[in-house]
Amino acid sequence: MIADQFQRPLRDLRLSVTDKCNFRCPYCMPIEVYGDDYQFSPKADILTFEEIERLTRLLVKAGVEKVRITGGEPLVRKNLADLVALLGDIQGIRDLTLTTNGWFLSEQAQALKQAGLHRVTVSLDSLDDVVFGRMNGRGYGVQRVLAGIDAALAAGLKPVKVNAVLKRSENHAAIVDLARHFRGTGVIVRFIEYMDVGNRNGWRLDEVVPSAEVIAAIHRQWPVEPLEANYRGEVAERYRYRDGQGELGVISSITQPFCGDCTRGRLTTDGRLLTCLFAETGPNLRDPLREGASDEALFALITGTWRQRTDRYSEERTANTPMRPRRKIEMYQVGG
Ligand code: GTP
Ligand code: 5AD
Ligand code: SF4
Ligand code: SF4
Repeated sequence: MIADQFQRPLRDLRLSVTDKCNFRCPYCMPIEVYGDDYQFSPKADILTFEEIERLTRLLVKAGVEKVRITGGEPLVRKNLADLVALLGDIQGIRDLTLTTNGWFLSEQAQALKQAGLHRVTVSLDSLDDVVFGRMNGRGYGVQRVLAGIDAALAAGLKPVKVNAVLKRSENHAAIVDLARHFRGTGVIVRFIEYMDVGNRNGWRLDEVVPSAEVIAAIHRQWPVEPLEANYRGEVAERYRYRDGQGELGVISSITQPFCGDCTRGRLTTDGRLLTCLFAETGPNLRDPLREGASDEALFALITGTWRQRTDRYSEERTANTPMRPRRKIEMYQVGG
């Protein structure tokens, strides 16, 4: 088994397939910075589907069992189902999933399922059109995202999960609203503590809603109890409604960092391998690949990088807030 300096194996891969997005969530791509003339990665820099497939095969050989397609917004990448089909053929991937903002999901859910996608996670921060419009930076309403979730359920991309990032001054009401809306539907809502990702999101500790507060608020309305993790290193802590109306989760990377079990690697749109969400960068796999490197050479680059890994950013931040400023990768370049 290939393990890093803290004995953590490589198990999960997050693949960013585009750095573009149709939303402008202020905590990720503030519109003042990412205006209409912003230059995202040029096409020549972006990995082709065949290149992604080849690197993914090698990463699976190095230990990856779970693959999550992300962006930016992955569904803006043309013909994404073709990539899903290529990945679906790789032996050893037991979980093939995708994180999306849901805007283009209605029209793609069926094709993604047919191509071999197992399930989807949809980001949705509020059920209030005004609040949601502010949080997606475009003034878009929630209806189309809810229709996307329904289409995913109908296509069998299950379990469908909903991710909601909480910012105290923006969407505190979403806790009870989302819980109420999705209880009993089979959709698993997870509330995420707002993180200091990237360099431009103006993060402040007083905007974070601690998960303990989220659980207390829900428990007052509908009693809940904790559930065991599905697997070692699961990011969300799971809870169930005592009245049998399903499951929810919280992701507490600020108040209870989970670096100790972190088995996640990330491949950026332009082919860099990152060993942490808060990394500045990582080795570029694309250039050697395009220059004709053998599978053996690329595999050695991957495993060598993983073996040297010492990342534990969230734990360091907790021990040490505010952190000394450092340059980090932007969220939309790694898709969470
Ligand atoms: P499941 O496969 O359904 O368990 O989902 P997941 O929790 O692995 O993936 P998802 O993309 O839904 O993650 C939810 C959110 O948790 C991300 O968008 C991030 O905000 C946060 N997150 C995921 N991985 C990490 C990580 O490695 N470090 C930190 N600090 N946060 C993470
Ligand atoms: N903190 C926590 N989660 C974030 N996401 C984007 N930016 C942040 C942040 N600063 C979430 C998105 C989506 C996932 C890819 O990451 O809302 O659910
Ligand atoms: Fe787009 Fe997701 Fe970033 Fe929002 S958080 S701007 S939906 S990539
Ligand atoms: Fe993993 Fe880095 Fe997140 Fe810690 S901060 S859980 S090491 S990605």
